[in-house]
Amino acid sequence: MNQIKVLAPMAGITDGTFCKNMLKHGFDMVTLGGYNADPHTESAGREILSRGRLEFDINEEELVEHIDRQTSLIKDQGFWNGLISVNLRSVTPEPIITISKLKNVDVVEINAHCRQPEITKLGCGQELLKKTIFLENFTKEVVQKAKSQVSVKIRTNVSDVDDIEISKTIEKANADYLHVDAMNPGFDTADYDLIKNIRGETNLFIIGNNSIKDIESARKMLSSGADGISIARAAINGTLPFDLSKI
Ligand SMILES: Cc1cc2nc3c(=O)[nH]c(=O)nc-3n(C[C@H](O)[C@H](O)[C@H](O)COP(=O)(O)O)c2cc1C
Repeated sequence: MNQIKVLAPMAGITDGTFCKNMLKHGFDMVTLGGYNADPHTESAGREILSRGRLEFDINEEELVEHIDRQTSLIKDQGFWNGLISVNLRSVTPEPIITISKLKNVDVVEINAHCRQPEITKLGCGQELLKKTIFLENFTKEVVQKAKSQVSVKIRTNVSDVDDIEISKTIEKANADYLHVDAMNPGFDTADYDLIKNIRGETNLFIIGNNSIKDIESARKMLSSGADGISIARAAINGTLPFDLSKI
């Protein structure tokens, strides 16, 4: 599979109905979530909601059934044979492994990206980038026990984090995809040089993300060495301002 085009996760937005409506744009993979998959992150999600940010507020006991319903909505579109990924925040690997066993889930995505303080104080989301050994063991356990493929979503240029070391850690843990939000603080373009560096240092399947809003930015991400691109904000209104097939 080459040059995969992915709908990136947006908490509170990318549910089954949203993803289903985006299929016509030609995505090869759509991402549900991010979901809070255990009681700790679920309660953090409620705090985030209460201060006005969007979240999916699903009870932990109902999450498996909820995701099963969302994936059915998408897969029931007979014409589409792409992949469904589910972006998950969790303190431990188990809830992620459980969700990987659902029949329509093709990829579980470990969220090492969320920077909301309610999540990072649990040692989750972006905080995982600061705990290399923990992240490696966490990812290894998911890879070993999951029934689906495994992606790890990271954010770049976080202070005190070595992005190359993190990428190598995820490669060592044998994840199928590295989903990189190549955030470049102070710029409204991705850190393409960092994508080139990760490409040079690893053999990971890289899904390059951040500020892809037209054909040019998508091509630049691919020519920097990403195997695919992903799009969030440019799709937030449920449409896409450019034609994915022209990339
Ligand atoms: C409203 C919103 C919610 C988001 N929620 C999540 C999330 O739950 N999990 C995650 O990994 N990334 C989340 N993201 C980050 C996006 O997936 C993406 O990495 C980021 O927006 C940069 O890509 P873009 O420039 O294409 O928007 C969210 C972004 C937005 C705008």
